[in-house]
Amino acid sequence: MQKSIGVFDSGVGGLSVLTHIHQYLSSESLIYVADSAFMPYGCKSPAEVSERCIKISDFLVAQGAQAIVVACNTATAVAVNLLRARYTIPVIGMEPALKPAVTHSRTGVVAVLATSGTVSSERFNSLKARFAADARLLVQPCPGLVERIESGDLAGEETRAMLTAYLKPLLEQGVDTIVLGCTHYPYVIPLITEIAGDNVSILDTGDAIARELKRQLQLRGSVHQEQQSGGVEFWSTGSPNQTLISRLWGQPVHVGQLDI
Ligand code: DGL
Repeated sequence: MQKSIGVFDSGVGGLSVLTHIHQYLSSESLIYVADSAFMPYGCKSPAEVSERCIKISDFLVAQGAQAIVVACNTATAVAVNLLRARYTIPVIGMEPALKPAVTHSRTGVVAVLATSGTVSSERFNSLKARFAADARLLVQPCPGLVERIESGDLAGEETRAMLTAYLKPLLEQGVDTIVLGCTHYPYVIPLITEIAGDNVSILDTGDAIARELKRQLQLRGSVHQEQQSGGVEFWSTGSPNQTLISRLWGQPVHVGQLDI
């Protein structure tokens, strides 16, 4: 069985991470699962999200995954430890970039946008205590934003109005750095920049995660050296959203239906 890298999210958000992984590790075979039937994770209980993470990860391991990337901040916050205890392969999780944001900010006022599930998690609160104790950290949950992005509305009036309502109070308090704590949000960076202006920095962790994955594979001597591109397989537990996935991936792809 060909070894692959398994990547999953509640929906299309993790594609923002998959894109970086494909750039850094272009010879690796990738398998992506969008758990669209159970999206969004952000308002579900930790027990429900954990159950989904286990089901999907078991599938990825059965497909020959040599590493799993939890391309979802909410799922990482509640289930990454559980997954690490369950498998012997590396499990890479997402974390909002609080530390770089605090270092980078000139005003000392930093905002983090994330799901309600992420911001109420113990993992996030410990991250905050460790890295943002000396900054003014404004934590903004963004209910509804994941659903706007899943609907394919990345720049329309409804999404703009929602984002404006979330961002305006933060900007009024002098925020100069915005941390994207959800993998769906990179898809609305152009809109965030339009609302917040060019002087506000936006930090996303997709690139850092891809580098960390590469480092972990190199440590195990399991990076493919061939020149040819590894394939990418797409699966969805809901109705396969072929059009949106193809649009975000940048080329037409086939999305299989996964009943788990
Ligand atoms: N993309 C996700 C995250 O990074 C999940 C969003 C959701 O399903 O609520 O948190």
